[in-house]
Amino acid sequence: MSEPRMDHIMQVGLGFWSSKVLLSAVEMELFTELAKHPETLTELSARLRLHPRSAHDFLDALVSLNFLERRDGTYYNTPSTDLFLDKRKPSYIGGMLEMANNRLYPFWGNLTVALRTGEPQNEGSQGGVGLFDALYADPERLRGFLKAMTGISHGANMAIARKFPWADYKSAVDVGTAQGDLITQVALANPHIAGIGFDLPEVGPIFEDYITENGLSGRVQFRPGSFFDSPISQADVIMMGHILHDWNLEEKKMLIRKAYEALPSGGAFIVYEGIIDDDRSKNSFGLLMSLNMLIETPGGFDYTGADCVGWMKEAGFHSTRVEHLVGPDSMVIGIK
Ligand SMILES: C[S@@+](CC[C@H](N)C(=O)[O-])C[C@H]1O[C@@H](n2cnc3c(N)ncnc32)[C@H](O)[C@@H]1O
Repeated sequence: MSEPRMDHIMQVGLGFWSSKVLLSAVEMELFTELAKHPETLTELSARLRLHPRSAHDFLDALVSLNFLERRDGTYYNTPSTDLFLDKRKPSYIGGMLEMANNRLYPFWGNLTVALRTGEPQNEGSQGGVGLFDALYADPERLRGFLKAMTGISHGANMAIARKFPWADYKSAVDVGTAQGDLITQVALANPHIAGIGFDLPEVGPIFEDYITENGLSGRVQFRPGSFFDSPISQADVIMMGHILHDWNLEEKKMLIRKAYEALPSGGAFIVYEGIIDDDRSKNSFGLLMSLNMLIETPGGFDYTGADCVGWMKEAGFHSTRVEHLVGPDSMVIGIK
């Protein structure tokens, strides 16, 4: 039994203070500005239009949280914020934080309502439209969301591109591909793989831009459609990243069945996201993501590796395994 302690309780209970300081810094593009050149308090205050009452505390709070460095009165990015939060670098992962700031932060204010009613608390909670309808009605919001997906998935996508035995396969379809970072990383690391990104038609132009930027236009194609209305294209490997958790159990099982039908014998199905540990006591990110799905969707939820293996076996997959990727993410692989 551990000693009773209050510091962890207070740290988590007031965690939104530090969260919002970082999100506001991303919103004001502070790290992008500092990546151009380090600046003093006066210069930064003028550039970001900070009130004299806030500027000192805001910037020094970021120093204390290890997001900035201050030397002789001049503020610098840290190596991490310089690499990951400068908008002009391809390594920028702030899309997810921009979405957290614009959408999730206010929606999570209604968590207690969601916990009591089981109802989503996002754009759809008033008009009854689904998450994707609400996001995709506004092209700017769509682009922001798809970039956010790349930000949150990039590390795991690189791990899948390297860890999975791609030499045994020739083609892959990424279902719900968003900007297409997963199929991009797989194709870049495995020049023999031909790939398809499948997603709703509105995603097409944003996917095509990303594929062109990565020099993969000949080898990776976009296929528009809805996985509710059409079968999944046939390929040796079918992938679904952060897809199953958006949907209820019946819809999850339908998607797994469609993946099974699209694969040849020996083909592989890769499902990945913040897979919860089987004891449901360690992967806080996966468990909190599941609550995020409560906020965002009518029936979505995250699940354990054992849950997913059970659904895969039910669909007919004969061999399954769970492999850790990076951070809270794991992949569940089913072989037909
Ligand atoms: C949570 S995002 C995941 C994106 C990406 N796979 C990743 O892991 O970063 C879900 C994706 O599913 C797509 N999607 C939603 N409904 C769909 C449907 N009915 N048919 C095909 N794709 C759909 C969305 O457009 C979005 O790109």
